[in-house]
Amino acid sequence: MYLGLDLGTSGVKALLIDERQAVIGSANGALDISRPHPGWSEQDPAHWIRATGDAVDALKAAHPQALAAVKGIGLSGQMHGATLLGAADEVLRPCILWNDTRSFLEAAALDADPRFRAVTGNIVFPGFTAPKLVWVRKNEPGIFAKVRKVLLPKDYLRLWLTGEHISEMSDASGTAWLDVAARRWSDELLRATELDESHMPSLVEGTDRAGVLRPELAARWGIGGAVVVAGGAGDNAASACGMGTIGEGQAFVSLGTSGVLFAANATYLPNPESAVHAFCHALPATWHQMGVILSATDSLNWLSEITGRSAAELTGELGETLRAPSGVTFLPYLSGERTPYNDATIRGAFAGLGHEADRAALAQAVLEGVAFAFRDCLEALKKAGTRLDRVTAIGGGSRSAYWLKAIATALGLPVDIPAEGDFGAAFGAARLGLIAAESADPVEICKAPVTSHSVEPDKGLAGAYETAYGRYRKLYPAVKKATAS
Ligand code: XUL
Repeated sequence: MYLGLDLGTSGVKALLIDERQAVIGSANGALDISRPHPGWSEQDPAHWIRATGDAVDALKAAHPQALAAVKGIGLSGQMHGATLLGAADEVLRPCILWNDTRSFLEAAALDADPRFRAVTGNIVFPGFTAPKLVWVRKNEPGIFAKVRKVLLPKDYLRLWLTGEHISEMSDASGTAWLDVAARRWSDELLRATELDESHMPSLVEGTDRAGVLRPELAARWGIGGAVVVAGGAGDNAASACGMGTIGEGQAFVSLGTSGVLFAANATYLPNPESAVHAFCHALPATWHQMGVILSATDSLNWLSEITGRSAAELTGELGETLRAPSGVTFLPYLSGERTPYNDATIRGAFAGLGHEADRAALAQAVLEGVAFAFRDCLEALKKAGTRLDRVTAIGGGSRSAYWLKAIATALGLPVDIPAEGDFGAAFGAARLGLIAAESADPVEICKAPVTSHSVEPDKGLAGAYETAYGRYRKLYPAVKKATAS
């Protein structure tokens, strides 16, 4: 048996698989976000431990014998968060999360230093870890002075599980301190933020062994033998392992809180100019690109709060047949945007509202706006040298047939839907646990799921979508100009 632990933003998921990769069971532990000021987003690492403990305890209650037979654990997690530890590994302040934008000025300042793009292959986005540390140095100098280790969220979980300070390449790529081509920390970049390698965990590949479960926890969960903990991966690379998105030309769109267009690459292909993320994959000598949009299902959830209708009701009202864009345009920049603009201060907009614009028209515009944001990501990946023939859809939003058709039509690509099953980040993490524990071949283990059906672009509406995409493209500069202070 192998256990995958995915530390998400809204909860922890624990998922158990057997040697044939059949899912035996899963359980969740809930998490909240604290937003003490506009643009801030924090979590107390103690809550991660509690939620993980709750999830694994629940698995133990439901599947005690299977859990007792666990030989490997893999970790996945929300990326970029800054977990600051003092000399005794005590947590110095709440973790500043990936979707916290307070350090946008610090990010811009680091990004203006040409060494960062040259070494990391990425823009220094406000969500990344390094600018958060600069913000802490400026605003909380007493805390900065005490920092001895900076850990990413899932690596803090590893510290609790194993007692080790270890990270791996895929998650480390999102710090702005990694030399992404050479797969090692950059001393030069660390020094540019007044840190050095002693503040960083050691690095392994996601498929490597990276610690052994502490005996107290093994006893708590009734596990007898030694349990290997794998390096694991950031949540997107972990999902890619779950989906078998590991070879050139393979890609997925993830419709979660944030939206991701993820493409696997056999080589390192950076293109920071179009705000593409070029990161190490969880498998050795493999990389990946991502376009990231910050509010995907979050945009629909926002409309759901405003209208008092659930997201499922809102998409349900549209039916299953794709409608021509109505002329209402929505920009989904509720928390700013990464790809293609790297703009933390831009905010969303509706344009083209008339008396006839009812709730359904707004819901339609929100789904189209997110679909066009994915189209922007596709164009950015093209500029970075990636050609895609099709993509696979994952994430909660992919339950909406309407949204999938809108995305297929906006991208001009068929969208494959995996057969029923759980192929997300926790499953990918469990696969990494299996690979590390058994020294298995990653390519043999990380196979793609069977496709249940494919959603083709609506050819009849392709022209109307293209016109609407043109309106969408023009709206960003206009809103930017009109709202610039
Ligand atoms: C990726 C990113 C998000 C988080 C979500 O760069 O910021 O996908 O990892 O958990």
